[in-house]
Amino acid sequence: MSIFRADLLKGQTAFITGGSSGINLGIAHRFVEHGANVVIVARNPEKLAAARAGLEAKGGRVMACSVDVRDYESMAKAAAEAAAEFGAIDIVVAGAAGNFIAPAAAMSANAFAAVVGIDLQGTFNTFRSTFEYLRKPGARLMVISAPQAVNPTPLQAHVCAAKAGIEAFVRSAAIEWGAVGVRINGISPGGVLGTEGLERLSAGLDEKFSQSLPVPRYATLDEMADMALILVTPVTDYMTGHIVALDGGISLLGGTYAQAFQKK
Ligand code: HXC
Repeated sequence: MSIFRADLLKGQTAFITGGSSGINLGIAHRFVEHGANVVIVARNPEKLAAARAGLEAKGGRVMACSVDVRDYESMAKAAAEAAAEFGAIDIVVAGAAGNFIAPAAAMSANAFAAVVGIDLQGTFNTFRSTFEYLRKPGARLMVISAPQAVNPTPLQAHVCAAKAGIEAFVRSAAIEWGAVGVRINGISPGGVLGTEGLERLSAGLDEKFSQSLPVPRYATLDEMADMALILVTPVTDYMTGHIVALDGGISLLGGTYAQAFQKK
């Protein structure tokens, strides 16, 4: 049971990119459980429809927008529609991400651009397109980073570059937007059970890899959703520009983690 009141987010609106699956959908569910209206933004219309149905079954007011976060004009349209439907946007989660395992020397320029486009440009597009509709003061923005932002990782150069860029962007934007009462934080999740990201990366890791982590297991979607909730509560009102490493300690391992990844 959540330690927070069920009506914690009542009447508030959350705009969540990548919201049709994985960590972001888990966050959308937690926010709906606490009374929020949610706008989920993702590419695949079928996955969006299924996610929407699940959220509505919990009693949530849901808008679903089929948009590629790399397409700024479509993002701007989705943000405007969300504001027209629900009013000011209280919470934004920039969660859309791409990933595959590939050596930098064999990757096409378009492959690199795809991941940087979805992750880094997508994060900018999400925050920039919603900015004029944010509740000011009071809006809380969040990114989903990854340990690759701080751990150099073979076969993940594109993801490392994108996630490091996201974390640098968060720190800079947090300074600029603090003045209008908007704070920005993030979660860096490590491996999370039940996500496509872990499924893809598992191909490059030993099955027992999770047991070698300081917290010897992968995380759950509930743990991610609970942290996201904490990042939008008054508990963290004085926190901005910070990325929470909710990663079982994988970001402490640096090169050790990289070697494990390279072995398989
Ligand atoms: C090399 C690849 C590739 C692969 C795609 N490309 N997959 N290159 N190895 N396995 C190349 C394509 O050939 C193409 O380049 C370019 O990438 C763009 O591909 P498209 O098919 O046009 O698709 P696009 O829609 O642009 O995006 C592709 C994608 C995306 C980035 C792979 O579909 C995706 O990532 N989906 C998975 C979503 C996901 O898992 N999200 C969670 C992320 S986890 P060319 O030159 O041929 O045109 C995460 C952190 C995980 O962020 C941390 C866990 C510990």
